[in-house]
Amino acid sequence: MLSVAVLISGAGSNLRALLEAADAPGFPARIVVVGADREADGLQHAEDFGIPSFTVPYARFASREEWGAELDGQLRVWRPDLIVLSGLMRLLPPSVVDAWSPRIVNTHPAYLPEFPGAHGVRDALAAGAVQTGASVIVVDNGVDSGPILAQERVPVLPDDDEHTLHERIKPVERRLLIDVVRRVATGELDLAGASTPR
Ligand code: GAR
Repeated sequence: MLSVAVLISGAGSNLRALLEAADAPGFPARIVVVGADREADGLQHAEDFGIPSFTVPYARFASREEWGAELDGQLRVWRPDLIVLSGLMRLLPPSVVDAWSPRIVNTHPAYLPEFPGAHGVRDALAAGAVQTGASVIVVDNGVDSGPILAQERVPVLPDDDEHTLHERIKPVERRLLIDVVRRVATGELDLAGASTPR
């Protein structure tokens, strides 16, 4: 059984979908802990499912490195096989990425390498894109630049604003993320062998 730590910053709707999937009989992974970089609303989902959680508030540390060292320490307590960044709106310092690589994946609301960064949905709209998408990638030390594990296109509709478009992307993200976790757990997907088809 693959053990998974999930890191969030916000509402955690994708986290909740993963918790529900992992709760279903036969799913080959289990969530062992949920962590956040702030008092995120999404931590409630962990509580609902009886999963332990921790918070390492970014604002309380003098540097990204110090924050990362504390985060790394918390993660090590749980010894997860895989770390899922599910709306963690914070770049991990290289020390953390290097310690866990390639066992960290990230879900992103755009069709990478298009529109990386913190505002993937807003940037797609600003660019006038007629389609965007969702991607699940391996985390490396760049900004959303790691190998792509799964991605799917989502059309941009004429009346879309950031909220409506993001709400249409999220169900696609959830499906891709759950499938990636399942395939990592069964050994179908080898993170170490993932390469970037760009
Ligand atoms: C998701 O769309 C995720 O891809 C995005 O934040 C949202 C979190 O939603 N992450 C990024 O943009 C990272 N660059 P949720 O908290 O409701 O799951």
